[in-house]
Amino acid sequence: MALLLFLACAPDYSNGDATAGAAIYEQWCTSCHGADGTLGVEMNGKPAADLTVVTGQRTDDELADAILNGKREMPAQPLKNSETADCIAYLRATFPAQTDSGGDSGP
Ligand code: HEC
Repeated sequence: MALLLFLACAPDYSNGDATAGAAIYEQWCTSCHGADGTLGVEMNGKPAADLTVVTGQRTDDELADAILNGKREMPAQPLKNSETADCIAYLRATFPAQTDSGGDSGP
């Protein structure tokens, strides 16, 4: 029963609002990642990830995990689940997956 309740309530980070997410990104992310995602402010010697690269390499759940729980040197950000979904929608719209990197994920 508890498991069913958990599954029913599991947040869906794939249907956020990119317009609302822009304001959230501006407030919570630009100080380290910059407006263009490449600022790379260092925390304990580790530069903030280049979001123009990393966004396309992560699933929505992985992005949400980094935002809500922190990732290595990135501190957790105090966003609500709905704000996190909006922020992710903004990331997806602003930093689309790169296709010219010579990786093996292209067609
Ligand atoms: C206080 C500075 C700081 C803030 C604020 C911050 N980040 Fe980060 N972020 C970092 C650092 C530093 C890293 C690299 C962590 C590492 O590799 O040790 C990082 C890494 C990431 C990663 C890559 C995680 C991975 O899976 O490797 C993503 C995605 C990310 N940040 C998104 C965001 C978003 C979205 C926000 C705003 C909600 C945000 N960050 C706010 C410092 C910050």
